[in-house]
Amino acid sequence: MNAWGRRDGPSIILKEHQQLTTVIGGMLQFVRLREQDGAAPAFVVFRSMLYYVREYPERVHHPKEEQHLFMRIRERTNELNDVLDELTRQHAEGETRVRNLEHALTRYELAGNSALADLRSQVEQYASLCANHRRIEEEVVLPVALHVLTADDWAEIDAAFGSNRDPFKGVELEEDLDKLFHMIVNIIREVSH
Ligand SMILES: [Fe+2]
Ligand SMILES: [Fe+2]
Repeated sequence: MNAWGRRDGPSIILKEHQQLTTVIGGMLQFVRLREQDGAAPAFVVFRSMLYYVREYPERVHHPKEEQHLFMRIRERTNELNDVLDELTRQHAEGETRVRNLEHALTRYELAGNSALADLRSQVEQYASLCANHRRIEEEVVLPVALHVLTADDWAEIDAAFGSNRDPFKGVELEEDLDKLFHMIVNIIREVSH
């Protein structure tokens, strides 16, 4: 049993945060290796990480948070309204930042080393947005949620995030993305040696 008890929803949210942090760590490492002389990882490595962050956090994780977790909390308390507004704004900012990352990577592919500093700066900004966002959700939102949500609220959230969710609602996509995550972890491991 983890720190959040037996709840499926919070454990899966934490797992997805951890995976996103790992992939962003891989992006930072890609930039670091590209800045050094020696064998540099191929562009496809960064592209696969971009694909992951575009599909999983941006299209699966954030919409579920907004439609289930944030919505139920808003129904039970006004205490977090400002925080939830800010987190929702950050979800939109995340999408913009991922687009900026794609552009920065393409410029680097076309222009070479002169565009690498900008790619680094874009990755760092995305990393800092996600780290701060994750901290607020884990340290502020989930503790309040555990306090104010009812058993019915949790049943809905657990069903949306958990392993017992509706098989017609994107589970195949999520399984594919899980495979992609493990592939990325292996690539990060290989290029680090
Ligand atoms: Fe979020
Ligand atoms: Fe989240």
